Amino acid sequence: MKLFNKSLILLACLINAACSNADKENTEIVSYANDSHSYAKPSEAIAKHLSLDIVVDFDKKIVSGIADYTIENNGGNEIIFDTKNLIIHKATVDGKDVSFSLGADNPILGQPLSIPINNDSKLVSIKYETTDKTEALQFLNPQQTADKKFPFLLTQGQAILTRTWIPIQDSPQIRLTYSANVKVPKDLLAIMSAENPKAKNENGKYHFEMRQAISPYLIALAVGDLVYKEISPRTGVYAERSMIEKVHYEFADMEKMVKAAEALYGKYAWDQFDVVVLPPSFPFGGMENPRLTFATPTVIAGDRSLTSLIAHELAHSWSGNLVTNATWDDFWLNEGFTVYFEMRIMEALYGKEHANMLASIGRQDLTEEIEILKDKPEATRLKLNLKGKNPDDGMNSIAYDKGYLFLRTLEESVGRDKMDSFLKEYFNTNAFSTITTEKFISYLKNELLIKNNIEFNIDNWVYKAGVPNNAAQIQSDKFLIVEDAINDWKNGNIDENLLCESDWNIQQKIHFIRNIPIDISLEKFEALDNACGFTTAKNSYIAMVWYEQAIKHNYRKNAVDTQIESFLMNVGRRWYVSTLFKALVANNRIDEAKVLYQKARPNYHSVTVNTIDEMLGIN
Ligand code: BES
Ligand code: ZN
Repeated sequence: MKLFNKSLILLACLINAACSNADKENTEIVSYANDSHSYAKPSEAIAKHLSLDIVVDFDKKIVSGIADYTIENNGGNEIIFDTKNLIIHKATVDGKDVSFSLGADNPILGQPLSIPINNDSKLVSIKYETTDKTEALQFLNPQQTADKKFPFLLTQGQAILTRTWIPIQDSPQIRLTYSANVKVPKDLLAIMSAENPKAKNENGKYHFEMRQAISPYLIALAVGDLVYKEISPRTGVYAERSMIEKVHYEFADMEKMVKAAEALYGKYAWDQFDVVVLPPSFPFGGMENPRLTFATPTVIAGDRSLTSLIAHELAHSWSGNLVTNATWDDFWLNEGFTVYFEMRIMEALYGKEHANMLASIGRQDLTEEIEILKDKPEATRLKLNLKGKNPDDGMNSIAYDKGYLFLRTLEESVGRDKMDSFLKEYFNTNAFSTITTEKFISYLKNELLIKNNIEFNIDNWVYKAGVPNNAAQIQSDKFLIVEDAINDWKNGNIDENLLCESDWNIQQKIHFIRNIPIDISLEKFEALDNACGFTTAKNSYIAMVWYEQAIKHNYRKNAVDTQIESFLMNVGRRWYVSTLFKALVANNRIDEAKVLYQKARPNYHSVTVNTIDEMLGIN
């Protein structure tokens, strides 16, 4: 039935040359992968458009309202939505009350919400509100913001958290368009992963449209005392007032990045590319919400040294947002491709050597991650099996760094020209649809390898643990200089002052700190700190890697513990926070870690809390 429908539309599209993009988007998916993280049954009934009407209540710390869905029934007698920790007040179908049912509550997936429908049902309406257990939302008090005057709300949808603030078919392969009416206190501005207002209005009521079909994990909302500053007609930044100039300076190359990305893999599909810099509790470095990337303030370094994050989130506009992993087991298709694309953007703007430094950092991360996972080698495969697990716990940096290495190795064996036309075509052919690992592999074989008569050990890379031995060698000349200096320093041939007077860039300093020999004396470690001032570093990345080394070396001078504590109290970025807590635990400081965590925990978003709770054995 479904296939028949689709082929009719496709046929109509073939005959009618003017067949619109929207029709194409609607006809792209004909079969669905089995997604173990969603209760929805998309082949039976699917929601195509969401019209959201909500109020954000900062006193009660809830979001409440109505989610209206335009649905397509393919023969089912119910439509199933994912929900987690939501109160469902009422459901109607085409205006008539229906008796809905909520299934058993699974601690990871939440509850399926089943709504009875018949063959002609068109509009499903769900009245609901969030609870204090809602994981996607983080309500911040003024003290937790940059300006300290107004409260703030941010959401995080990836991987399976959108269902905690909107009842939704929460599988990445179920794309939908959305519109939203959002009412917020009138001192605040609301912005979403959609067409956005550029300034506050009088009444606090904002309307949003996302006309392109996106995956549910990409629906996002931020509410705060935000201002906008344009970088180019199609790029710009939102931030709190006290941050806006710094943010605007930091991300000044955004338009250049978009141009470079388009030159590589085709037109930017989302019209506008803005970034909002959030308060420091935002749990990620960045999140690629379409049209509006969410970013941590920890990358506002003052010297544009950490802007590869923007290249990364921008790259997701192709790998992830346009061509989307069908399930979380295929997460590497989002992140591995994005890191590859990120490196290409950085190379286009700042040169090969710069990109090689970034790639070398990732290569060391990969070696370290494989070492951490040595008792769980299956977790180092690209294709994951996250069934029964919280995808957020199962997704590690393998998807990023091994995924990157795979594509770089592929590039080196087929040559850049072929690689680029292949990738461009891949994004173009699969635009606005989702892709499984298996579908990608067959596409790769057909469109690149067989055509060019190239042998490549794909299965080895994708389904086996560790790094295959044909992996590309990544080398950075600037890092070789650092490695030589480390040896000289270790052997007493240069002193610390000389190291710090060098004109190394931030990445070189990071590489240096990360590779301080574990057997270096505490005297030398302290001398280094005194010469370079790493304990009071302003750059968050430098500070984080230095604190990690301080903990590993049991270095306690220069009040470093106070600095670590204030860093952990302030910053909620999960990667930073978990690196430092992990180091404390590994160095027999778990009791201290627990005391500190009790204080810092209220500042963290639920995704960071979940990770650290688990690490410290809390709850
Ligand atoms: N999409 C990810 C963030 C994410 C991954 C959220 C998995 C939830 C589940 C984002 O694009 C990302 O990768 N962010 C990185 C930064 C990047 C430069 C590696 C981060 O947050 O550190
Ligand atoms: Zn990413």
